[in-house]
Amino acid sequence: MGDSRMVETIHPVTSLEGSIRLPGDKSISHRYGMLASIAEGTSRIHNYSLGADCQSTLACMRSLGVAMESDGTETTIHGAGLDGLRAAAAPLDAGNSGSTIRMLSGILAAQPFVTRIGGDESLSKRPMARIMKPLGEMGARLEATNEKFPPLTIHGAKLRPIDYALPVASAQVKSCVLFAGVFCEGVTTVREPVPTRDHSEIALRQFGAEVESLGGVITIEGRPKLQGRELTVPGDLSSSAFFLVAALLKKGSSLSIENVGLNPTRSALMDFLVAGGARIRLLNIQQDSGEVVGDIFVEHSPWKGGVLEKAMTAALIDEIPVLAVLGAASEEGLVVRDAAELRVKETDRIATVAENMKRMGITVNVREDGFDVPGKQQFRAAELDSFGDHRIAMAFSVAALAADGPCTIHDAGAASVSFPRFYDTLREISR
Ligand code: S3P
Repeated sequence: MGDSRMVETIHPVTSLEGSIRLPGDKSISHRYGMLASIAEGTSRIHNYSLGADCQSTLACMRSLGVAMESDGTETTIHGAGLDGLRAAAAPLDAGNSGSTIRMLSGILAAQPFVTRIGGDESLSKRPMARIMKPLGEMGARLEATNEKFPPLTIHGAKLRPIDYALPVASAQVKSCVLFAGVFCEGVTTVREPVPTRDHSEIALRQFGAEVESLGGVITIEGRPKLQGRELTVPGDLSSSAFFLVAALLKKGSSLSIENVGLNPTRSALMDFLVAGGARIRLLNIQQDSGEVVGDIFVEHSPWKGGVLEKAMTAALIDEIPVLAVLGAASEEGLVVRDAAELRVKETDRIATVAENMKRMGITVNVREDGFDVPGKQQFRAAELDSFGDHRIAMAFSVAALAADGPCTIHDAGAASVSFPRFYDTLREISR
C-alpha cells in the first residue's frame, strides 16, 4: 500500500478537460495473473495494473514458483501448469487485497502442500468464512484467526466438485469456487443470488476452460487444458467513476476516457448516471480478449439523484463512495439500500464516507445497510482522511475539487492500491 504519511492537498478547480487513460482493470488483472500462472506455456499480458493489489497477486504467484517478467504494465508469465506450483518458502502476503486472498485460496486449496497467506491490518479484519465454507466442503482444511479472519493456513487436498449457492453476492467467492473447480474431476457449480462481475468466467474461457453460465448458474468442467495467451487488460471502469463524477460536478468540464472495460456486469454505472441526467456517450465499442471495451465521453450536467437498491447496489458496490459525493451535489440526493457489504470492504465504507462528509459539512443519514445523502449541499473545505482505503482517498479528492477552499487528504497514498498515478492524472486535466 501507499505511504501512510502522504498528505495531499487538493485545490478546488474550475473545470476538468482533456483525454485520459486509466490503469488496467483491477479485477481483470488479478484473474489474468492467477490463471496465466496455472496455464501451460507463456502468457503476455498488456496493460496489467501497476496498483499495489494486483502486484500483490504477482508476488504471491512468484513465491509459488511461477516465473515471470514485468516491464511496466507489460507482463509475461511462464505458466507452471495445473500441477506445477511449489510450496512457498515463507507466508504469502496479499497486502490490502481481498481479491488476492479470496481468489487465490481457491487455487491453494487444491495444492499438495500447506500455504499460509495473510495481509495488512485492513485485510486482517475482512471476513473469510465465506470462502472457508465452500473450500471446506470441497475437501480442503482452512484455519483462520477466530475461525474467520486472515492470516489463513490452507491445507490443500485433492478436491471434490460441489454445487454451491452463494449466501452473499460476491464475485470473489464465486471466483474462488470456480478456480478450485479447475482442479477437480467433474463439474463444479456455483449459483449466485444476483449477477456479479463475470470476469472469471470470461478469463477462464479465454485460457481454454469450459464454463457455462445461464440464469445465475455457472458451471465449470474440471481439469481443463489451460493454455497461455496474449491478452490486454482494459482500463478500469471503477477508476473511471472518479473522473465521471468530477466532470459531472464541475461546470464546463468535458473529458474523454479512453479504452475502458465496459463489461455489462459493471457498466450499470453508466445507466445509473445517465438515468439521472448525466451526459455520457460511449464510443468505439469493441470486444477485446472477451471483454467489451470502449471510450467514455462525459460532459458536465446537473444530476437529478437516484435510489440504489438490490441488484443495482451489488453491481455498483465499489462506486458507492464517489456516487455519495455526487448525490450530495445532486438535485434530489442519493439513497443507498441493501449495501451491508460496504461495511466489510477495505474500510467500513458507510462509516468512512459518513465521517468525511461530516467533516465537509454534508448531512448523511446512516443506516446499518446503507445511507441517504440529501441533495443540494455545499462541500466545505476540510481535513479529510482515506483511513487507508483507496476508494475513499479518491472519492474525497473528487469532493475536494468542488469544495469552497483547499482540502487535505491524510494517508492519500492509499490510492496506489488501484491507481498509483491518480493525483497526477487529476492534475493533468484540472483547469
Ligand atoms: C471484486 C469483487 C467485489 C469488489 C472488489 C473486486 C472482484 O468484491 O468489491 O473490489 O474482482 O471479484 P466482493 O466479491 O467481496 O463483492
